[in-house]
Amino acid sequence: MAQYDVIVIGAGPGGYVAAIRCAQLGLKTACVEGRETLGGTCLNVGCIPSKALLHASHQLHEAEHNFAKMGLKGKSPSVDWKQMLAYKDDVIGQNTKGIEFLFKKNKIDWLKGWGAIPEAGKVKVGDEVHEAKNIIIASGSEASPVPGADVTVDEKVVVTSTGALELGKVPKKMIVIGAGVIGLEMGSVYARLGTEVQVIEFLDAITPGMDTEVQRQFKKILEKQGISFVMGAAVQKVEATKTKAKVTYKLRKDDSEETVDADIVLCATGRRPFVDGLGLDKLGVEISERGQIKTDTQWRTNVPGVYAIGDVIDGPMLAHKAEDEGMACAEVIAGKHGHVNYGVIPGVIYTAPEVASVGKTEQELKDEGRAYKVGKFSFMGNARAKAVFQGDGFVKLLADKETDRVLGCHIIGPGAGDLIHEICVAMEFGASAEDVALTCHAHPTTSEAVREAALACGDGAIHA
Ligand code: NAI
Repeated sequence: MAQYDVIVIGAGPGGYVAAIRCAQLGLKTACVEGRETLGGTCLNVGCIPSKALLHASHQLHEAEHNFAKMGLKGKSPSVDWKQMLAYKDDVIGQNTKGIEFLFKKNKIDWLKGWGAIPEAGKVKVGDEVHEAKNIIIASGSEASPVPGADVTVDEKVVVTSTGALELGKVPKKMIVIGAGVIGLEMGSVYARLGTEVQVIEFLDAITPGMDTEVQRQFKKILEKQGISFVMGAAVQKVEATKTKAKVTYKLRKDDSEETVDADIVLCATGRRPFVDGLGLDKLGVEISERGQIKTDTQWRTNVPGVYAIGDVIDGPMLAHKAEDEGMACAEVIAGKHGHVNYGVIPGVIYTAPEVASVGKTEQELKDEGRAYKVGKFSFMGNARAKAVFQGDGFVKLLADKETDRVLGCHIIGPGAGDLIHEICVAMEFGASAEDVALTCHAHPTTSEAVREAALACGDGAIHA
């Protein structure tokens, strides 16, 4: 029986980062993972493969729509789907092997198999029981079933994000259930590859929780790109054969029912914590009504020596949130002061243009009754964005009316997912909009749009 200071269950971004930090802090560490490769959902069937397909399909879009404008003439490339999937798999392989290398470098034992916790201080993997002073549960999440609907996922015709990354061919028609992050990222991939994509969304706005102006602009841009939306519609059932599916939905405004056909149906109505087989019931770990493991502010469950981080606990299901918790939890176990600032966790949607946000939305500030000011700047006034045909979006900065402290930022535009971090740093330092406005930004960069939005919180943007 091997003995460890820490055993981490799950090698996704939460788990593998926790394991590395534990090892760096001098703790004898093992990580349990049942998949063939490390990296969890994110590296194997989530963030990373979807970014590869988004990149490839974006190149095709550029060739079809913008090359000729720039004087690049000739036939647009055609899609070799098998090769595109092979490229995606190669990207996955490079990244998962990278984690294996980091485990070896940090002397972390990979316990291969699915773990269970028979009692506090013990982790069972296959027939072997290992002892650990501390256990971190980082077992992640799985796709939720479509709520209130009769849908059976076969991962061939009716798929989750996992199946959508492995389709046998590019479909002619795809129905996406849910206009959240997964639906819109994967919908974008297939729309660019020539699929007719229709999104059916229960609410009246896409991307729930995002800034309202961003939601509206984003929907308009996606519609221009050929994606159609049925809003305010609850999917009732999906009937599938081996090659086709029929989706029935009910419009909320008048309860009328409609049926549409598709070659592929992508179910993207959220994810739920994955804790199957861990034995948490018997162990007595408290679980919330939403199925999440309950923890205190230092990721301790109610069972001494058992911690939980990432998608299995409360908060946004984001790889980087899990990573932060992984590092902080390791620090707590090592007797240091691990901390996560949940007010400054960016959210990014990797479509083209990208969408990114951090901090409060305008609606949240209104609901809180907080006096705020808005500085907004369109990418139309940004030379660099126009040069790459991406003047469609904007930066919206929210600051406290009295103190000028930055409270939130919402960006739709080129490289939004990178631009947002300037504001994350500003918020971590408690900066004012003026601090951002007085910082020299290189010209010509899209980051100037962030500065202009900050200037708009004061005496005004220059290029507006
Ligand atoms: P989501 O929660 O973002 O969106 C689900 C959508 O489905 C909602 O708009 C909801 O109103 C709608 N819906 C629910 N039931 C419905 C029904 N019966 N009929 C029609 N619409 C219905 O969930 P999603 O996109 O599946 O993502 C899951 C998680 O994965 C999220 O927490 C997300 O943040 C994370 N993720 C993050 C990514 C990123 O950061 N770029 C990429 C992919 C996933």
